[in-house]
Amino acid sequence: MQEAIILVGGKGTRLRPLTNHTPKPLLGVAGSSFIRHQIAKLMHAGVEHVVFATSYLAGLFEAEFKDFSQDLEISYAVEDVPLGTGGAIRNAGRLLRGGAPDAPVLVLNGDILSGVDLRALLAHHEDRAADVTLHLTRVTDPRAFGLVPTDEAGRVLSFLEKPKTAEECVTDQINAGCYVFRRSVLDAIPADREVSVEQETFPQLVAAGRRVFGHTTADYWRDLGTPLAFVRGSADLVTGRATSPLVGRPAEALIHPTAEVDPTARVTGGSTIGPHAVIGAHAVVDHSIIGGNVSVGAGARIHGSVVDHDSTIGGESTLREVVVGCHTHIGAQNELPAQLRLSCGLRIPARAVRITATAAACPTVH
Ligand code: GDD
Ligand code: MG
Repeated sequence: MQEAIILVGGKGTRLRPLTNHTPKPLLGVAGSSFIRHQIAKLMHAGVEHVVFATSYLAGLFEAEFKDFSQDLEISYAVEDVPLGTGGAIRNAGRLLRGGAPDAPVLVLNGDILSGVDLRALLAHHEDRAADVTLHLTRVTDPRAFGLVPTDEAGRVLSFLEKPKTAEECVTDQINAGCYVFRRSVLDAIPADREVSVEQETFPQLVAAGRRVFGHTTADYWRDLGTPLAFVRGSADLVTGRATSPLVGRPAEALIHPTAEVDPTARVTGGSTIGPHAVIGAHAVVDHSIIGGNVSVGAGARIHGSVVDHDSTIGGESTLREVVVGCHTHIGAQNELPAQLRLSCGLRIPARAVRITATAAACPTVH
């Protein structure tokens, strides 16, 4: 029986306020929670049992899957205090069914959208009789990741998590957050304390001469841990640059059947429009995620942004790479700059924020 562990215990701080009430893997991406895309991919690769390593808002995972009726067994390894990525893998290992010490166990970070062929990764691991096999990918800026140089045979030479200096950036080849562990190697991770798989387990296995291999591919790959990456990943699934068994034919936008989009509005670039959302006349929604019950006023322009459920964007307001928390009201004719994150429940009056000049008269008498 092929089994997998998914690490989903992180707080998703870089995606706040979206993650204030919802763990990162349960956020909606191209019409389904992200974790459902991952589950579908695992089932497609023949996985029959998945263990979620949960911690932050753990109960919401069980709620999400309580009616799951497909042919997959799901278990929950809940950490009362986060055990770190290595501790979480070891803790989840207790719930695996296959007891054979050499059994290959898939381990996935819970925020990676990837086109890697999991069967090919498993075959790579078996062919080399590896202790651990890491999926690796190449990126232009590796600083936010784990650096993993390999030799000609693909054997991992070192593992350096989040390099601090330019000298430390010895390769553009990074840990793609998907591994195959030999069961006995996973069971040997200390169980009684917090352990980082990146900072402790991998460097120690390499230093001890264990058989740690990389499987480098050029498949689509994105970590959805930042707002911009999150909207891009969702848009890529809609437009077909990235694929998921849960997404149909490539499209310009994914509009929920209960949403109302004015015929003069333009919804483009792989945007998703959630249930009961209303998009007004001449509004533009591009490369964005619009949550359920959101209202976008006439002539508003939204680019590369996420608007969480039950929020209102006033007419002729402009949002560029902005994250809007749930139940937030943005009045008309605001112009919100990039990188802005608006807390849940916030109210911004009409014409309150602009990055270009404002023509509104000063209401204070001097
Ligand atoms: N259960 C549990 N417990 N899960 C955890 C914990 C924990 O204590 N800490 C983190 N996680 C989960 C997160 O929920 C996420 O799914 C995954 O572990 C990785 O954590 P991130 O916070 O997303 O890490 P990162 O993106 O900075 O770096 C990791 O991913 C990169 C690839 O995107 C590292 O593995 C890097 O080496 C890698 O390059
Ligand atoms: Mg991440």
